[in-house]
Amino acid sequence: MEKRAQRIQTIKEGRSHRDLSEVIQERRATNHFTDEEIPTADLSKILHFAGQAPSGYNLQPWRFVVVQKSENRKRLQAVAFDQEKVSEASAVVIFIGARQQTQDSAKKIFEDGNRRGLGKPENNDQIIKGAMDFISGSVGWQPWLNRHTMIAFSFAMLMAESLGYDTAPMEGFDPAAVKREFKIPEDAEVVALLAIGRAKPPEKKYPGRLALNEIAFSETYGQPWTGEEI
Ligand SMILES: Cc1cc2nc3c(=O)[nH]c(=O)nc-3n(C[C@H](O)[C@H](O)[C@H](O)COP(=O)(O)O)c2cc1C
Repeated sequence: MEKRAQRIQTIKEGRSHRDLSEVIQERRATNHFTDEEIPTADLSKILHFAGQAPSGYNLQPWRFVVVQKSENRKRLQAVAFDQEKVSEASAVVIFIGARQQTQDSAKKIFEDGNRRGLGKPENNDQIIKGAMDFISGSVGWQPWLNRHTMIAFSFAMLMAESLGYDTAPMEGFDPAAVKREFKIPEDAEVVALLAIGRAKPPEKKYPGRLALNEIAFSETYGQPWTGEEI
């Protein structure tokens, strides 16, 4: 069966677990989408698994704005370099790294961990202070928010593909305008957009990747990786 037909079959059967290596190898950044809608239950599933991503201190700085209404997708397209896929896809998720919200929810997150048998409540304040000092002092909020939000983003993209949908990751947008249009807090980072839907044929071609021996090293940088190419 052709790849696209296989993916459609996956959705129809309600299966969610295409093989992970197949999902990663066959995922393509989709250029055009059909107007088929994604059920809300599938969007919830995609976002739930995005939220299961790991983060430093488990601070979970990501927030997701799901844009589904046609008029709102058009507004988003206008601030996303006019990329047509934004208004074509059934849903576009704005991935945000939220600074103030991360600080505000830290205590609650640590208390939840305490209830699950992790750490001691009396240490929470000190650990949270250490975390905030590390982020603002050693890393910087902007890279820290981006780093973590992209993990949740990748989880969402792979989950959507695993459910049989097609996706398009996007960095082509005006962050200030996206914030303004979608009421995103000023101190947040708009990290990336993820369009999710069903690709319009023809299937996009694999653009290729660097060989493993060009990107992987053994023990020290520059020392050739000698493992097999896949
Ligand atoms: C974070 C990120 C941002 C991207 N932004 C855009 C974008 O704004 N517009 C676009 O057409 N493609 C965008 N792409 C898609 C890439 O061009 C594409 O992933 C790359 O060429 C490899 O192709 P493939 O994903 O089909 O293997 C983006 C990809 C990533 C990962």
